Amino acid sequence: MTDQSRILIKGGKVVNEDCSVISDVYIEDGLIKDIGLNLQVPAGVRVIDATDKLVMPGGIDTHTHMELEFMSTKTADDFYTGTKAALAGGTTMIMDFVIPNKGASLLQAYENWRSRADSKVCCDYSLHMAVTWWADTVKREMESLVREKGINSFKMFMAYKDVYMIQDHELHAAFSACRDLGAVAQIHAEHGDLVAEGAKKMLSLGITGPEGHEMCRPEEVEAEATQRAATIAHATNCPLYVVHVMSKSAAKVVRHARQQGWVVFGEPIAAGLGTDGTHYWHQDWAHAAGFVMGPPLRPDPSTPGYLMDLLANDDLSVTGTDNCTFSICQKALGKDDFTKIPNGVNGVEDRMSVIWEKGVHSGKMDENRFVAVTSSNAAKIFNIYPRKGRIDRGSDADVVIWDPNRTRTISAKTHHQAVDYNIFEGMVCHGVAMVTVSRGKVVYEHGALYVTPGAGRFIPRKPFSDFVYKRIKQRQLIKTPTAVDREPYGGVVVRLPS
Ligand code: URP
Ligand code: ZN
Ligand code: ZN
Ligand code: ZN
Repeated sequence: MTDQSRILIKGGKVVNEDCSVISDVYIEDGLIKDIGLNLQVPAGVRVIDATDKLVMPGGIDTHTHMELEFMSTKTADDFYTGTKAALAGGTTMIMDFVIPNKGASLLQAYENWRSRADSKVCCDYSLHMAVTWWADTVKREMESLVREKGINSFKMFMAYKDVYMIQDHELHAAFSACRDLGAVAQIHAEHGDLVAEGAKKMLSLGITGPEGHEMCRPEEVEAEATQRAATIAHATNCPLYVVHVMSKSAAKVVRHARQQGWVVFGEPIAAGLGTDGTHYWHQDWAHAAGFVMGPPLRPDPSTPGYLMDLLANDDLSVTGTDNCTFSICQKALGKDDFTKIPNGVNGVEDRMSVIWEKGVHSGKMDENRFVAVTSSNAAKIFNIYPRKGRIDRGSDADVVIWDPNRTRTISAKTHHQAVDYNIFEGMVCHGVAMVTVSRGKVVYEHGALYVTPGAGRFIPRKPFSDFVYKRIKQRQLIKTPTAVDREPYGGVVVRLPS
């Protein structure tokens, strides 16, 4: 009898974000207990041969929406199907967004998300919180969420006018609160008023199909908001994390901000790295609608390669998916009006393979950078490193055994998600998850899943991540403006008419 809670992964190449080394990895009771060659392990442990394979930290998907009620409907994937699919693709942790409606309690929304997710998740997960309105009570709830509920990141929307969008002065207040609390401010960067006006214009021109979705919000609408958010973040000395960077123009803004030394991180997503917005012009409405998300994929076909270049060079930092799936019959809510097509695409299952194919197999990044952008950087920014995002003694045993030479063809016919199409349909990817270990248990092996709903755990995160906040704290100390010490003015003051 082999003991399933004790696993020896033998003969693989252990890949972390800073180095690779041929080594065995011994796992016991959910943790990585030892690394090295010729390890002394108890009798009866399960041995997995990883010869010619890579042994990497399981992926962390920084951006998902499971079971989200959005645009009059609910996502096809819930926390069960979504996390099951994640594991099949080598991702062992997701970070989902709690999105309270305007006027609603953040704490209540947090409890709702926890009660939905806890019983269904097959892998570990964490939560970001959206701030969709502003008041003193919101600020107080942010404090409770950071101090008592393990939240250290808050997303603000500059788009979705009248639904989630907040104004610049509210962004200023929210960013200031994030900085005081040691949290990361996340931004959905699109000029919401321009999107709304652009949509009216497209409809008035009789453009009702999915191409109108991109044309009403071209990439300068994303870039302008990215620059505005970065400026407000810099003015408040708050770290900024730009979610779903979808265009060259917005990516350039992030790159420029980082070059100036601003504490800004950019998150491209699998969709933006693996495909483009030319699909919106497809003759088949359902095909075109399947790609609708906000900000949109860009019709410039060189965009994915450009975003990958910036990701490889550390201008962009980390990858998510914005996995927010709606089946075609749900997309069809907008069959006569693109503004009613529920926004969102798949990605949680395929992110690792798509990034390996377009990033590593293409020669743009090495295996270590792959680990950095698929797990370690996320763990560092969101303050769970090295518990997550590293293969090391004492780290959580969230591991993927990866075959860089094997290929697979992505298809909705074989994927594990509940959604009925796949934006990467037919893409052949080098880089395949052979075995996924979550919390020290083999949950996926050679195409078969061994998952249990509720087996994953909520991972609380502490504020003031060193990776993000060391510079912020020092700047707070030395850059606090001071007044000039001078004698008061003693001369004449002009009299104003009363
Ligand atoms: O289209 C998208 N992105 N849907 C999810 C909501 C969001 O803005 O992240
Ligand atoms: Zn968004
Ligand atoms: Zn197409
Ligand atoms: Zn999203």
